Amino acid sequence: MIDNESLRQKSMPVKNIDSETETLIAGMFELLNKHQGVGLAAAQIGIPQRIFITQIGKDTPRAFINPSIIETSEELVDYEEGCLSLPGVWARIMRPKALRLQAWNEKGKPFTIDAEGILARVIQHEYDHLEGALFIDKLSALKRERLLSKYEKLKKSKK
Ligand code: NI
Repeated sequence: MIDNESLRQKSMPVKNIDSETETLIAGMFELLNKHQGVGLAAAQIGIPQRIFITQIGKDTPRAFINPSIIETSEELVDYEEGCLSLPGVWARIMRPKALRLQAWNEKGKPFTIDAEGILARVIQHEYDHLEGALFIDKLSALKRERLLSKYEKLKKSKK
């Protein structure tokens, strides 16, 4: 699920939330559970649509379609992030501690959510995927280079 073009594209809004959307989301949850991740965006599996999902421990699995971040807290926190598209590497990233987001669920129902802690973190990471951004973009050039060379080494050692 690595190195696909849609990772660097801006994903397109979902026009109709229908049974196809539901099937896509069900497949995304399967993949997320298989990889024991906490979040996944459709762009990561080569589908540049504005959809992402979260599943944090025993917390409710959530699907977010056409999400918009309405508000973020001024307070920032430092938290370690990884990404299923860059397996094996992690980095500490600063982001707002809390946020309010509006989106539609897989049944086409709009909702608003106030999130903080890990959920707020995962939401922001996944939202970035819809914009074609990756967590490594937030690192200094030096840190990014180090992390990417570590990632390349890991990739080679697995082949
Ligand atoms: Ni990611």
